[in-house]
Amino acid sequence: MASIPFDDRDGFIWMNGSLRPWRDANIHILSHALHYASCVFEGERVYSGEIFKLREHTDRLIASAKILGFDIPYTADEIDAACKETVAAQGFKDAYVRPVAWRGSEMMGVSAQATKINLAVAVWEWPSYFDPEERLKGIRLDMAQYRRPAPETAPCKSKAAGLYMICTISKHAAEGKGYADAMMLDYRGYVAEATGANVFFEKDGKLHTPTPDCFLDGITRRTVIDLAKARGVEVIERHIKPEEMAEFNQCFITGTAAEVTPVSEIGEYRFTPGEITKQLMDDYTALVNRAGTSAAAE
Ligand SMILES: Cc1ncc(COP(=O)(O)O)c(C=O)c1O
Repeated sequence: MASIPFDDRDGFIWMNGSLRPWRDANIHILSHALHYASCVFEGERVYSGEIFKLREHTDRLIASAKILGFDIPYTADEIDAACKETVAAQGFKDAYVRPVAWRGSEMMGVSAQATKINLAVAVWEWPSYFDPEERLKGIRLDMAQYRRPAPETAPCKSKAAGLYMICTISKHAAEGKGYADAMMLDYRGYVAEATGANVFFEKDGKLHTPTPDCFLDGITRRTVIDLAKARGVEVIERHIKPEEMAEFNQCFITGTAAEVTPVSEIGEYRFTPGEITKQLMDDYTALVNRAGTSAAAE
């Protein structure tokens, strides 16, 4: 799909303390982050002008950086303010927010203790995609070639750029075969998550979702668990073997970008989006828009 390149757009990007023209938000080629993946980021959504669960995202950004061994030189309040300032400068009501923190170009090499820590926030327009009827058909997922690494192998609780290397490879391979995304197993062989979203299954009216012990416990995942419980739906967090997917009726993925997206197919397994999935899609849509409306009304 053709789109305007991300380095050639109008507007403003917040970078290291102030807004600057979009096309001037550049870094040097010898930035440590580019060579050694010393970079963490967030993905947030703006609904009706309000960033959904902003503080949770900001806290995760700060925590992700700490796990990678660096402190972002701004407080959570300052980061929240930077995100809001960028949304306001861009003037979008429904958008995506990308805060990113990285080691700069003061040192080159594995050791980079004295690099400056940079922070930027970019916001671009991103309406909720698919109309609900279209979305209810479900997306098709291939099985990924790579597995989520063990906690002893990688800093898996950090939303670190480096951990997305295997996601991009897996997603590209799936797309090359006509699938929308790929389902990754974890290092033990249990079902883990899609390349940018968590997964839920339904059986006998109960939801089953993998225990997030080696991948992100998504903010959307936690939100959807609360929404399900509010509807009286039991949610079971546990290790799920791939062959168990044969026993589940419904499946959906959750994430800031994906929101609640039904899944019709994962590898050899088939699912039929049904009532619980539709209910949670509706509840999630209502919640994110209500959150925006109430804050906007304050
Ligand atoms: C690998 C991965 N898992 C899960 C998620 C879902 O997280 P969240 O709901 O906080 O967006 C994301 C998106 O950030 C992700 O990239």
